[in-house]
Amino acid sequence: MQPSLNAGADGVEIRWPDGTVGEFPYIWLRDTDPAGFHPQTGERVFDLTQVPLDITPNATELTPEALVVTWDAGSVPSRFDLDWIKAHRPGQPRPDAADLAPVAWRAALGGEGVPRHDADSITGSDAALGAWLQDTKRFGLSIVTGLRDSTEAGLEVARRVGHLRETNFGLTFEVVSKPDPNNLAYTSDALPLHTDLTNQELPPGYQFLHCLANEAEGGGSTFCDGLAVAEDLRARDPQAFEVLSTVTVPFRFHDSVTDIRSRKTVIALDSRGRVSEICFNAHLADILDLAPAQMTPFYRAYRQLMEMTRDPAYGIALKLSGGEMVVFDNRRVLHGRQAFDPSTGFRHLHGCYVDRGEWDSRLRVLDRAARG
Ligand code: OGA
Ligand code: ZN
Repeated sequence: MQPSLNAGADGVEIRWPDGTVGEFPYIWLRDTDPAGFHPQTGERVFDLTQVPLDITPNATELTPEALVVTWDAGSVPSRFDLDWIKAHRPGQPRPDAADLAPVAWRAALGGEGVPRHDADSITGSDAALGAWLQDTKRFGLSIVTGLRDSTEAGLEVARRVGHLRETNFGLTFEVVSKPDPNNLAYTSDALPLHTDLTNQELPPGYQFLHCLANEAEGGGSTFCDGLAVAEDLRARDPQAFEVLSTVTVPFRFHDSVTDIRSRKTVIALDSRGRVSEICFNAHLADILDLAPAQMTPFYRAYRQLMEMTRDPAYGIALKLSGGEMVVFDNRRVLHGRQAFDPSTGFRHLHGCYVDRGEWDSRLRVLDRAARG
């Protein structure tokens, strides 16, 4: 059975035998004409201002394979493959191999429940790379095992994903206790659960911390899923959730050569109201400048979220060993560490970031290749 076509004043409707109905406005059809895209780059070259908003065709017809739209006599008709136009019908989000449903986790996951993937497999096989990317994106957290004892080993895994994200701490950074630290991470102090670089316009996406040595007493790692905490806060205290997802607050990092500031909400939502990001770093929270009347509601909500991050119901703890690398979505999963005693042994993590966009791009490209 063939689909049927019904041309109206503003667009056409196509009904497929399987019950699928697509509505295609004329202006969309004109703007989406495959001939309006560059044959090599695939980028749109059609200029929307060259046609009226209320453009209507002279004729529309369905052939067994295509919708053919004739705009005016003398011009080449627009031809849309029927399977293609069905897949791209307006109102339907485009299928996306990077659109993976997150798995919110709590303390029950335990350190041993964190997905583990082998470094050599990731560097040696696209299928293993894809499986690791998917797990890490779903859980927001994974551990890569079996890295050789070189800072390059972690970077090799990170570069399998894409470009590294450079920051004011460099393209890569050494987490060791330093004599003149510009960041609490470079001390031996405990770090409460936080997300990094909330003071950046775009905080880095995935963080890689390759453990080269962890021989000091203490120095265990802690994590909690900001997504689980935020969703529980939404259920438990909708008012607090509303404040944290609408009131923007200032974050700042400054040292002798930088003064990097950004305002953002502690919880960010996407266009569908889902939690898309957590920006939580008490050390980088700048002097709060809210109107006096907003202060108490904000502090109440913020303190409640802070208390939840400390609740044992959410946190997991593990101690990284040399040759392991923890990888997590810094805009979702909070990380911290226990204090360590540098006189009892050496502790050295080597870090870098790869933004979420690189992650998603690699997932899509691998999916494309797997489909052939
Ligand atoms: C960091 C950090 C954790 C650790 O460098 O941002 O939080 O385990 N480090 O040292
Ligand atoms: Zn950190």
